Amino acid sequence: MLRMTRKSNSRTRISADDRALIEAACTARERAHAPWSRFKVGAAARFGDTIVHGCNIEFDVYGLTNCAERTAVFAAYACGAAGKPMSAIAIVADTPAPVSPCGACRQVLFECGGADLRVILANTRGDTCVVRMADLLPGGFQLDPATPVQTVADGRARLNARLRNSKSKSKRA
Ligand code: THU
Repeated sequence: MLRMTRKSNSRTRISADDRALIEAACTARERAHAPWSRFKVGAAARFGDTIVHGCNIEFDVYGLTNCAERTAVFAAYACGAAGKPMSAIAIVADTPAPVSPCGACRQVLFECGGADLRVILANTRGDTCVVRMADLLPGGFQLDPATPVQTVADGRARLNARLRNSKSKSKRA
């Protein structure tokens, strides 16, 4: 159960790293392209030592809109940062309580960062709430639940192992 409280939630303290991520999310929010909703959202995700920004981007065909959280994840793949596991993400919007990610973004964050991903929800008034991904999306979808892909790096390692396996099989044939 998520409890959003003023300033910060009592369960988890905000670290200096969290603060840096919130700052980065605020910077990203300034770049939001939201001519239709006028609702700007910023996200900043940590992959190893790299912070990747994301903002929401809207189009005249509304369904093509991309949320800030998913923009950050897609940008991380595009710039190569996703070679390292995603350890945390901060999300900020101008909401009365810390912003809560949509269902589609929860699934993407779960697949990319795993159940233990640190998610820092924030608003522009300085309220924060730190949760685990599993709190936001219990039982998220996984293609292969028997051997769960917990992080991007894990997924890549498994894929490489499969490729090596199939190469050595084809050599033997
Ligand atoms: N939005 C996000 O960027 N993240 C969320 O988690 C929820 C919604 C954006 C999408 C759209 O541009 C605007 O907020 C209003 O829905």
